[in-house]
Amino acid sequence: MIFALSVFCLLLSCKKEDQNKNGSPLNDSLVRLVESDLRPAYHFTPMAHWMNDPNGLVYYKGEYHLFYQYNPNGNTWGPMNWGHAISTDMFNWQDLAIALSPDNLGTIFSGSAVVDAANTSGFKSGEEDPLLAIFTHAGNQQSQSIAYSNDKGRSWTKYEKNPVLLNPGIADFRDPKVFWFADQNKWIMALAKGNVIGFYSSPDLKNWTFESDFGLNYGAHGGVWECPDLFQILVEGTSLKKWVLLVSINPGGPNGGSATQYFIGNFDGKTFTADTNETNWVDYGTDNYAGVTYNNIPSTDGRRIAIGWMSNWNYAGVVPTTTWRSTMTVPRVISLVQNGQNFNLRFNPVDELKKYYSQTDTVVQQTKNSVEIINSSIIKSGSYDLSLSADFSQTDSLQLTFGSSAEKMSILFDKKNGKVSVDRSNSGSVYFNSSFKQLIICPAFTLRTDQKVDIRMLVDKTSVELFWNKGEKVMTALFFPIFQYNFLKVKGSGSMPVINNFCLTGLTKSLYR
Ligand code: FRU
Repeated sequence: MIFALSVFCLLLSCKKEDQNKNGSPLNDSLVRLVESDLRPAYHFTPMAHWMNDPNGLVYYKGEYHLFYQYNPNGNTWGPMNWGHAISTDMFNWQDLAIALSPDNLGTIFSGSAVVDAANTSGFKSGEEDPLLAIFTHAGNQQSQSIAYSNDKGRSWTKYEKNPVLLNPGIADFRDPKVFWFADQNKWIMALAKGNVIGFYSSPDLKNWTFESDFGLNYGAHGGVWECPDLFQILVEGTSLKKWVLLVSINPGGPNGGSATQYFIGNFDGKTFTADTNETNWVDYGTDNYAGVTYNNIPSTDGRRIAIGWMSNWNYAGVVPTTTWRSTMTVPRVISLVQNGQNFNLRFNPVDELKKYYSQTDTVVQQTKNSVEIINSSIIKSGSYDLSLSADFSQTDSLQLTFGSSAEKMSILFDKKNGKVSVDRSNSGSVYFNSSFKQLIICPAFTLRTDQKVDIRMLVDKTSVELFWNKGEKVMTALFFPIFQYNFLKVKGSGSMPVINNFCLTGLTKSLYR
């Protein structure tokens, strides 16, 4: 494992310079980037070649496992394998050998992994609890299969009697998410079946019984349903538990292409019942898909942690990196919050990220309505965590811009129109796909009574992950600069002070292996 240590950080200065009409400094000298400059510093990327969905997220004995859809032979989607990495903190990853490769039953599509602590499967052969992977074999038909490991996930054996769940004649029949349902002493599988999610149960992970389907008249149906996840979660601050069903959909997302919706309701071991049939989106950005959560996080920790694939099927195969293609989102903690009769999920980066903070710069804004940072080594590194709080009783909008004199990303919190938008039309390489330039909009920017909005923005070379109101809404978007970005500006409308608690923290130590 090699850590490329970043250049040390210079102190920031907030000097004023002449502006061009895009609001960026005129007198910067443009630095052209090469492909390796686009490699994220603190997000997971494969060492080489193509990656899509996260698979088999499971925690066992201090190790977070991340399997992923992987084509080891090329930089576009191809015959799928399960790539594999482990980490003790979900940021510093160690690559392991490919866990599952195609065989005569087909290639290896998405799925999940569990710890079979009670050895219900009978696969245990040594001291360790067996880990089981439950995945889709994609051959002539899609069917569900299992594989086991008795050495903490280091080596895997496919069950000789695969598949364990045959296809009943449905074209899209895939992406099993399995968990142990302790209340009823059985395994539950959530499975994508075209336009519904099917639930199955099993005593031993080998024999599966159909329980029910959910979703025909629920949520968004602009495309096929994929990559479900079902879990129970405590309502924050109460002892009430609810069930959450995540369902990815492609196409049909709120800004086109791929996205993930969620339902809140109840599950009785047989049937999932949603509280309402409205559509809730996990993320209003274009680039968070197929996100699922970790199994087996210890109850002493208690977090429900999700990782998504930070891309979109609209353009995933043509984004301008060639040695590797695709990145995972930052791991996010999911919480469930009750507002009156409604329940909503929140998503926030896991705190482990803070282990990798380097220099922090805090600008306390008192009299002006803007903060501007030029030529900061943190901004130039392209990898940072920005947080601030904005007082919308004093402004109609807040604009966050970062870029160079040639290119920029522009984010607008628009109180009047109740929208947040991400404009990447002039962010660098944008012409590889016609949809990439389109404005990305979250139409749900609502203010609390005090009109204060806390904003957190994670930037890592080619991605921005925007969280506001403590993760009430999220937007994740890719961008591909051609020139090094060197400024960041936050500005309210009018002349009143609106920005408080401004804090910019570098994440300049590259965790790329
Ligand atoms: C989602 C998906 C899954 C499938 C996998 C194939 O992105 O289409 O439904 O299992 O990718 O790579």
